[in-house]
Amino acid sequence: MKITYLGHASLGIEVNQVSILVDPFITGNPKASHIDINTLKADYILITHAHQDHILDVEAIAKRTDAVLISNFEIISHFEKLGLEGHPMNHGGQWDFEFGNVKYVNAIHTSSFPDGSYGGQPGGFVIEGEHKNIYIAGDTALTYDMKLIPLQTTLDLAIFPIGDNFTMGIDDAIMASDFVGCDKVLGSHYDTFGYIEIDHEEAKRKFFDKNKDLMLLDIGSSIEL
Ligand code: NI
Ligand code: MN
Repeated sequence: MKITYLGHASLGIEVNQVSILVDPFITGNPKASHIDINTLKADYILITHAHQDHILDVEAIAKRTDAVLISNFEIISHFEKLGLEGHPMNHGGQWDFEFGNVKYVNAIHTSSFPDGSYGGQPGGFVIEGEHKNIYIAGDTALTYDMKLIPLQTTLDLAIFPIGDNFTMGIDDAIMASDFVGCDKVLGSHYDTFGYIEIDHEEAKRKFFDKNKDLMLLDIGSSIEL
């Protein structure tokens, strides 16, 4: 499983020869100006919630690639009206896709579309594929629901928002890492705009002091699990 950080909360995942994008917000992110959305491969696009900083490039990419969207019922209904194809899920549900199993899990956040219309409840994803298991928390607060995940899945990587203000910050992400039983964390949802700028060295040191590993990838760079 290969995971590429595309800035903000956007990810590319290659698993079992399938290309997945998560929460594509690239053309609106000046820090990701070197990423061309016309070159991104996508068989599927996972969407955690309806906020603009998670859906901005969904339509353009899905229209070019014919990607199948995976998200909550309300978000899929919204994009189906625009002519896109989707697979609706809701909290606690899982489905076996060609690339692996996906479970839509709880997140504590909000989820309106940019025009204010209802975007369902926000979520995260647990993906099991290629004998690697990852948890994409989405925008969320620290929540006890995270403790349910390791009861069913042994994680190889947890992807947490760490920018604070709109989501968990560093200290809560460290607790979240305990809750999900995974010491290997990829940070997301930081530095994109003023409210969520973080001190990278301090963040990494705080994780290191708890015997945990916080990875902060350059936009466009990848890790292999
Ligand atoms: Ni959000
Ligand atoms: Mn967000």
